[in-house]
Amino acid sequence: MSPPALDQRVPAGATVDVSFCVNGTDVALSLPARITLADALRDHLGLTGTHLGCEHGVCGMCTILVDGEATRACLVFAVQVDGAELTTVEGLGKPDDLHPLQEAFGHHHGLQCGFCTPGFLMSSYDLLDHDPQVQREDLPEELSGVLCRCTGYRNIIDAVDDVACAHRDGLPGPKNCGPRTLVGRTTSSATAAVGDPADPPEPTESVRPDEISIPSGEPTVAIDLTSTLESPMADVANVFDDVRLLIRCLPGAELTDDLGDDWFRGRARIALGPIKMAFNGLAHLVEHESDRLHVLAQGNDTSGGGAQAEIELRATESDSGDTQLHAVARVFLVGRIAGFGRSLAGDVSRRMFEDFATAIDQAAAGVEPDVESKPPSALRILVATLRDRLRRARQRARNRRQGGS
Ligand code: FES
Ligand code: FES
Repeated sequence: MSPPALDQRVPAGATVDVSFCVNGTDVALSLPARITLADALRDHLGLTGTHLGCEHGVCGMCTILVDGEATRACLVFAVQVDGAELTTVEGLGKPDDLHPLQEAFGHHHGLQCGFCTPGFLMSSYDLLDHDPQVQREDLPEELSGVLCRCTGYRNIIDAVDDVACAHRDGLPGPKNCGPRTLVGRTTSSATAAVGDPADPPEPTESVRPDEISIPSGEPTVAIDLTSTLESPMADVANVFDDVRLLIRCLPGAELTDDLGDDWFRGRARIALGPIKMAFNGLAHLVEHESDRLHVLAQGNDTSGGGAQAEIELRATESDSGDTQLHAVARVFLVGRIAGFGRSLAGDVSRRMFEDFATAIDQAAAGVEPDVESKPPSALRILVATLRDRLRRARQRARNRRQGGS
């Protein structure tokens, strides 16, 4: 049924159709009338940046913008925002293009555990948007609607004051708004804007960017691996020459579009236990020789996470005549996939590269690689990862014993 009038009763168990635009994405959901906006954002759309603390309108953690006004998402029913424009913390900035407020919070150490940070960011956005002339002495009271349990107030005030002083002519708008697929934990009642993580929709951008920019700084995962292949160098060079074949060697990856000029569109799936991610993205071969590839890639997963990577592959012939595959990669992750933690994400990525090397060997030998379009098996990767860790732990123990004797 359509959103009810204020005096209309909705039968228990009935759902109500509600549509709104969140961070530039139009969504249509069918929800029980009693679901709060905060729960709808978090559970039905996967926008978990909006935090919940008190759920009574006291702590401000759940602050978002509804039609440009700061709103406690825990105090509003989702059906009340039918037709509204919402901005959540996910819409503020991108990892490589943060909003000035996000930059300033980082610079001034304005976040400790980070639990209050989305509320403070959205609340201070609302403040500076409406009152760019606000003075430092007024900030404690103006920002008192959000509570920080870690008591990082001084740094938060420094950060907001910094941005206020730098943007007296007006605060820059949100930088991460546009159409994307949103997927929540509870997808059964969602009727639109929801994609199956196992079957990601085509990206909406039809035009490729001028370049893929890779963040500076320490990557989430750094890979530097060398594998010895059984195939001779000339056969491996044939695989390097055939980009489609090469991509078929990458576990879970699929090429969907050749955009010309060494630009490609594709998708990649990763499954780790109950966590399934599907990335849509672009890759640019900035260097492509028979023995060398330099690739820049970026992708977004259906829950708003993202990955950017710079990968260099090189095939060489050793003095003994073996073919060696060298892979050097810097991978930057945000969102759920980054939640694996650097160590596990590193182990999984390394294992995928090892599988990639095996598949290249198969392809070079004229055998169709066994990995096309399938996500890497969670169990196999985890077992192999744990086995590697166990082996390394045993080796360390052996080294310690030998050092002690
Ligand atoms: S969770 Fe909404 S104000 Fe505390
Ligand atoms: S940084 Fe921890 S609650 Fe504010």
